[in-house]
Amino acid sequence: MADRITNLLDDPETAREEGRRKMDWAKQHMPILESLREDFEADQPFGGEVVGMAMHVEAKTAVLAETIAAGGAEVAITGCNPLSTHDDVSAALDAVEGVTSYAERGVDDEAYYEAIDAVLEHEPTITVDDGGDLVMRVHEHYPELIETIIGGCEETTTGVHRLRAMDDDGALDYPMFAVNDTPMKHLFDNVHGTGEASLSSIAMTTNLSWASKTVVVGGYGYCGKGVAKKAAGQNANVIVTEVEPRRALEAHMEGYDVMPMDEAAAKGDVFITTTGNRDVITREHFEQMQDGVLLANAGHFDVEINLDQLSDLAVDTYEARDGVQAYELDDGRRLNVLAEGRLVNLATPISLGHPVEVMDQSFGVQAVGVRELVENGDEYEAGVHDLPDDLDREVAEIKLAADGVELDSLNDEQREYMESWQHGT
Ligand code: NAI
Repeated sequence: MADRITNLLDDPETAREEGRRKMDWAKQHMPILESLREDFEADQPFGGEVVGMAMHVEAKTAVLAETIAAGGAEVAITGCNPLSTHDDVSAALDAVEGVTSYAERGVDDEAYYEAIDAVLEHEPTITVDDGGDLVMRVHEHYPELIETIIGGCEETTTGVHRLRAMDDDGALDYPMFAVNDTPMKHLFDNVHGTGEASLSSIAMTTNLSWASKTVVVGGYGYCGKGVAKKAAGQNANVIVTEVEPRRALEAHMEGYDVMPMDEAAAKGDVFITTTGNRDVITREHFEQMQDGVLLANAGHFDVEINLDQLSDLAVDTYEARDGVQAYELDDGRRLNVLAEGRLVNLATPISLGHPVEVMDQSFGVQAVGVRELVENGDEYEAGVHDLPDDLDREVAEIKLAADGVELDSLNDEQREYMESWQHGT
């Protein structure tokens, strides 16, 4: 039991019950994890393994941790963002046999890394990350663990970028699966999950409508596509900013206005960054913005909106609503930042993260990734690896079966035709 969390709560028992209720609700809508859990319970594939996790600790992640523990692993988990933890879920998870949770909402940097260290003190043999903080910490502060770590799984685009950069420098010393890069993850989670959850978090946090608003989406990658599509579906006018010509062209051909942020800054009512890059919205943009704009980030780190520059520009700042910080400029304009510029779908006080069904897919991929490491980990060299495609298909098949969707299959002639290069006109 991680006492730190329990100490934080006024009434630990009630908090645990509430956390458990949230987990049970999520579980009812996670047929992929349910199916994998049944197999894991029967086969105990993770007996003797220690799985260290740094992820957004809310109900869906808790179901993943519980599923891995059901397979015989000892699980130690903490958050991957200081604002995305649900303390009641963390407490409920901590009460699950085989699981220790160190995640706490609202911790400062020091406590955030203390919790990561606490996970690593369990000496994990497998790491599961969302953003790469755990794997970085192992390499920088716990290199002695590398010898016994079989490998790890990384959930998000930014984490995979970090790992690939590390790999290119020859600095990644154990195998990591790029879970983000599987179709079952990024085509659903990044697109639909980020789109739906970001818009609903912004709407609930502000109580404002999308209809007729001009929404500026920074970046038209997987997340940006989802945000733009869902905003357009809510009757907003969408402007996209990009730096990659083909992505800009895709957005243009979808019918969105595409322009530099310098031009979009004066037009937008709501700004949502989804680039995984830094300084997408900066001082020269703030200077042009209209009174009352909303500024939100859905990229992994809180570096996309330059809040230091906004603070410098502001003559006053105050909490306008829960999760909304107003920055007042000297001419009276107010620019409203949601969730301190952190992942808006996870870090406002009422954020729930992605819809449950979407995370069932992402975490189904995580679970089969962990299973692959235990079963065949010695076949993978240090470095970033794609998850084998048959494992991703396995997750898709479980989901289709759970939803009662049937599909065709290739017959022998079709398979032979598809594999041949000799057929022409
Ligand atoms: P992606 O690589 O598909 O898309 C990013 C896009 O941003 C690219 O098209 C790139 O050209 C563009 N971009 C980069 N710098 C830019 C700039 N200065 N201005 C305009 N556009 C710029 O990545 P993906 O999968 O869409 O992920 C984006 C971010 O969202 C990452 O940090 C990822 O980790 C995070 N993410 C967040 C989730 C959430 O729950 N909010 C879920 C999944 C991913």
